[in-house]
Amino acid sequence: MSIRDDFPIFKNQIRNNPITYLDSAASTQKPKIVIEAIKNFYENSYENVHRGMNSLSISATDHFERARENLREFINAKSFNEIIFTSGATDSINILANALANKFKDGGEIVVSELEHHSNYLPWLKICDKSNLKLKIVPIDENGAIDEKKIIENCNADTKVLAITHMSNTTGQIIDLNFIKKNISADTLIAVDGCQSIAHCDIDVQKMNCDFFSFSSHKIYGPSGVGVLYGKESLLNDLEPSNVGGGMINQVNSHDFSYAMLPNKFEAGTPPIEAVVGFSAAIDYVKSVDFKSFFAKEKKLRSDLIDALKDTSNVEIYGSDSSLNASSIVSFNLIGHNYNDIATFLDQYGIMIRGGHHCCQPFMKKLDIPGSCRASFGIYNDTDDVDIFIDSLKKTIKLLQ
Ligand code: ALA
Repeated sequence: MSIRDDFPIFKNQIRNNPITYLDSAASTQKPKIVIEAIKNFYENSYENVHRGMNSLSISATDHFERARENLREFINAKSFNEIIFTSGATDSINILANALANKFKDGGEIVVSELEHHSNYLPWLKICDKSNLKLKIVPIDENGAIDEKKIIENCNADTKVLAITHMSNTTGQIIDLNFIKKNISADTLIAVDGCQSIAHCDIDVQKMNCDFFSFSSHKIYGPSGVGVLYGKESLLNDLEPSNVGGGMINQVNSHDFSYAMLPNKFEAGTPPIEAVVGFSAAIDYVKSVDFKSFFAKEKKLRSDLIDALKDTSNVEIYGSDSSLNASSIVSFNLIGHNYNDIATFLDQYGIMIRGGHHCCQPFMKKLDIPGSCRASFGIYNDTDDVDIFIDSLKKTIKLLQ
């Protein structure tokens, strides 16, 4: 049995080819255990949570809150109250940015980088447009890499928040957050976009000493529609949620209300209950296969693919310097050819990659390209996938000549 056998989708073929899945940075495939957990929950325990004392509601609430504890343990948060379920990392970052805009009404700076996914750029840009806060953008270099020292240089006594990716969704570069934390003011809050790193790095929010950490279930073999906003308890207690509604109140009177305690205060409305159950099953799964033991392999697959691409003529690779700490993601273009055409040709061989701007238009503009091809790895990939990919890319190049 291989890891691949745990994922039912790989039983299928695409155009008579086995599936070569190289798009885990967009979304990961789901192991059977996750699919079964959701099915089992729907068939045996489904009800709304936190809403009633009937047997099904108690059982559903129990599943839901055990999932929260599982997530807490997974990222080593101090308290269960620090795990807020959201609809995904984009939602987490929007909730956070709006709450912080309220906290920093008097102004100051928000620092982001040019490496950010739009989800960790637009919420900050938007709050800065509407408030006294000023957005500062740390530039990438001409190869698409960012230097941690530049991030540190751009933070000062006025920096209220550093909103930064932990791992680029375009190049796979991993940012040394501990180094940054040690070298900027202790008053600057660090809000980390952990969307990619959650599946490829050992995440311990206490060791990282970040203030906030956002991630999505679907990037770590769980269902879509759910994510987490982690925040230090004292900070979350101090913030006001932008979303209000059912489930997040203590008392409601005709003209005022009071908030529930954490974590409910930030969870207005019925949460994605079955997705939370599936998310927890995904965490159980990655722990059961010791997914941390795959981190070195994922880095090696990235460097093998980069080496093979460097041996292919007319290929331009971004953020590929071998000195960079990076994992799992490779972005490139075949000079003279559109990335979408390449992705479509590769699809003929059963290869799934992404072509586009990867929600990183400031990055693309800096490098003066409209987009790129992106291949990305997960725990089900191995060297065969790199070989199939390179072989098919060479065939594609021949066809295009
Ligand atoms: N954030 C996902 C990506 O980078 C969708 O492709």
